[in-house]
Amino acid sequence: MKKYWTLLMLLLAGFNLAAQAGTGEKVIRISTDETDLIYSTAPNGRLYQVYLGDKLKNEADIKHLSPFAKMGSDGSAGQRGWEIYMTSGAEDYFEPALMVKHADGNMSTILTYVSSEQKEIDGNATETVITLKDDQYPLQVVLHYMAFKKENVIKTWTEISHQEKKPVVLGRYASSIIYFERPSYYLTEFNGDWAKEMNMTTQQLQYGKKILDTKLGTRAAMHMYPFFELGMNQPAQEHQGEVVLGTIAWTGNYRFTFEVDNIGNLRVISGINPYASNYELPAGVPFQTPEFIFTRSTEGKGQASRNLHAWARNYQLKDGKGDRMTLLNNWENTSFKFDEKILSTLMGEAKNLGVDMFLLDDGWFGNKYPRNDDHAGLGDWQAMKSKLPHGVPFLVKEAKKAGVKFGIWIEPEMVNPKSELAEKHPDWIIKLPNRKTYYYRNQLVLDLANPEVQDFVFGVVDNLLTENPEIAFFKWDCNSPITNIYSPYLKEKQEHIYVDYVRGLYNVLDRIQAKYPKLMMMLCSGGGARCDYGALKYFTEFWASDDTDPVERLYIQWGFSQFFPMKAICAHVTNWNPRTSVKFRLDVAMMCKLGFDIGLQEMAADDLKFCQEAIRNYNRLKPAILDGDFYRLVSPYEGNHTSVMSVGADKSKAVLYAYDIHPRFAEDLYPVRLQGLDPDKMYKVEEINLMPGKTSTFRGNGQVYSGDYLMKVGLRVFTTRATNSRVFELTAQ
Ligand code: DGJ
Repeated sequence: MKKYWTLLMLLLAGFNLAAQAGTGEKVIRISTDETDLIYSTAPNGRLYQVYLGDKLKNEADIKHLSPFAKMGSDGSAGQRGWEIYMTSGAEDYFEPALMVKHADGNMSTILTYVSSEQKEIDGNATETVITLKDDQYPLQVVLHYMAFKKENVIKTWTEISHQEKKPVVLGRYASSIIYFERPSYYLTEFNGDWAKEMNMTTQQLQYGKKILDTKLGTRAAMHMYPFFELGMNQPAQEHQGEVVLGTIAWTGNYRFTFEVDNIGNLRVISGINPYASNYELPAGVPFQTPEFIFTRSTEGKGQASRNLHAWARNYQLKDGKGDRMTLLNNWENTSFKFDEKILSTLMGEAKNLGVDMFLLDDGWFGNKYPRNDDHAGLGDWQAMKSKLPHGVPFLVKEAKKAGVKFGIWIEPEMVNPKSELAEKHPDWIIKLPNRKTYYYRNQLVLDLANPEVQDFVFGVVDNLLTENPEIAFFKWDCNSPITNIYSPYLKEKQEHIYVDYVRGLYNVLDRIQAKYPKLMMMLCSGGGARCDYGALKYFTEFWASDDTDPVERLYIQWGFSQFFPMKAICAHVTNWNPRTSVKFRLDVAMMCKLGFDIGLQEMAADDLKFCQEAIRNYNRLKPAILDGDFYRLVSPYEGNHTSVMSVGADKSKAVLYAYDIHPRFAEDLYPVRLQGLDPDKMYKVEEINLMPGKTSTFRGNGQVYSGDYLMKVGLRVFTTRATNSRVFELTAQ
C-alpha cells in the first residue's frame, strides 16, 4: 500500500512540475485554413495533443494550452494528458494506439519526443513528420500528417520500426488517436449488407467504448462501413453545428474505437483491426499503417462532405479531376447468357443510346469449367470458346465498329474450386488444411500474401491489355470475404494473413498503376462493399450497390455522398423496381456517375427517347454534376421527399433534383431552399429530363430568380405524386 502512496505522490509532483512549466516546450502546429491540431511536449519529454478545433487567430495564445489542463475534479487525471500516440503499459488505463511486446517480453512502451519537421507541398498542403522513440528500447514511431489547407482535411499515418535483437510483436498499431473535450458526443455510423448499403443511424456516446469494425479480410465494408460522423453536443446536422467526419484508407479489416473516458473526454482511435493480427516485426523493417483521413466543420456535415469531395478529387481518387464515361453494362440484362451476336447487338444499342462505353460483365471466360453460372470458372481468364469463339479481340473490334469504348469485368483475386487454376495451384488458395471448407458464393480467395499469386493477379489485367491495348475500362469485382482463414504461404505466421493480403493487393494495384496509369477502373465488391480511400487511389469510381431500385438508391446515394464525390459513385438505370418510371430511375442515377444496365429492346420508344435526351443533358451538365459542389437539401430520412443539388465551380450552372418518394394524400408541401448559389447572380430555372411531348408542370419554369431569392425563399419543386421526380437546370444570366 505504502508503495502505491509513494507512486501517487511522485505522479502528483510530476503533474505540478508540468503545470508550472507551462511554456518553453516544443509546440507543433498542424493547420488547415479552418482547423488547428496542436501538439506540445511536457517536461517529461512526451508529446501531447493540446488542441483540436477551429483555427486560432493568435499564435501567441498557444502558450496558454497545456498538456495537463484536462484533469479530473480531484486532480487525479492531471498527469494523464492526451498523448499523441497513446501506448500501453504506462499510467493511462484506456485503449492504447500502440501495444508492443518487446524482444525481451516487456509489454510497456513510453514514447518521448525526438524531432519534427514541417514542409510546404505545392502551396496547399503541409507535411509534418514527428519522430518519437521509446525511452528504454530501440523502438521508433514516426507520425506523418498531411494538412490540406483549402479542403480542410488532415490525413495521418504512422510508421513503427525498431532495432531490437529479435522481432517485436505489435498487438495494437493504430493509424492515429485524436481527442475531444465536449459536453456530449453523437456518433453516426453506416451499417448495411448486400443490396442495403450505407444505412445511417445515430446514437449518443456514453462512458466506455463503442467499436466499429469488420473482419471481412478482402474488403473493409459490408456489415459496417469504414466511415463515421461525430456530432459535437448534438447529432450531426446537415447545415449547422460542429462535426467531424473520419474514414480509414484500408481495403481490409478496420477498427474505430470511440472511448469516453472517466472525465468525459472522447478518444477516437482509428486503424487496422488488430483482431487475430498480432504482427511480428523484424528489426529494421518499418510497419506502415494505413491513412486515417478526417475533416471537421462548424457548419454541419454538408460542408464537411464538400471538404472531402474536393480533397478526393484533388488528391486521392484516381484521375480525380478527369472525365468519366457513361456506359451500358449487360449484367442485369443478360446475366451469364450471351454470345458474340448478342454482345455485338448490345454494343450497337449502347451507341444508339448515346453512352460512351459498353461494359461486358461476368461470364465471358473459362473453358474446361465454363463460367455459365457462379459455380465454375473463376481463375481461368481465357475467353470461353463456346460463347466467344473469336475471343476478346473480336469484341474490342466490334465495339470500335459500333463507335463505343469497350470495358470488361474481372474478379482476379478469386477462384472457384471448379477451375483449372484450382487444379493446378491448390497451394495458391486461402483454405484450411484440416477442416471442412466453407464457400461464400461458391468461391475461395487467392492467397495474395504470396508473391507468385500477386504476379498471377497482375497478369490477369496485363495479359488482357497486352492482347487488347484498346480495352478502356475494367470492372474489378470481389465477391467473397476471406473464408477458411489459412494462408499456405504464411505457414506458421498465420496472424499476418489479414494485413499481408491487403498489402499484396496494393502491390498488384501499384504495378497496374505504374504500367497503365491512365486505365479507368471501377471498384466493385458484390455491390458496394469495397469503397475505401485506400483502394480508390487506384480506381476512378466504385459500384455503390447491386440494389438499383431508385427508391433504395436515394438512401444509398445519400449515405455515400457523405464521404465521396458524385463522380466516384456509379449509379445505373436498371429494371429493379419496374413499378417506377424509367424517368424516375434515370433522374435518381443522374446525380452520380451515370450508367445503364437494362435491355433497350424491351424499352418503350418514349422511354428510350427520354434516355437519349437525358444523356445529352448529362453530358452538358457534367462539369456541375461531376466536379461541382454537392448540397444535400432535404433528407430522405426525414420525410416523404428528398432533394439535392450540384453547383458548378463558378456558380454559373447548377442542377437541382427533387424526388417525391411516398407522399401522403394532399400533404402540405414546402419550398426547397437552395444552397451554394451566388446571391447576386440571376438564375434562369428550367426543368429538364421531360418525357417526350410533355411540358413542365412546374409553375416557375423558365423564370429568372436571384440566387438570394432561391436560397432564402426557395422553389416549390415537390409534388404529391409517388415516385415522381424533377430535374432543373439553373443558368446564371
Ligand atoms: C457482383 C456485382 O456487384 C454485380 O454488378 C455483377 O458484376 C456480379 N457480381 C457478377 O457476378
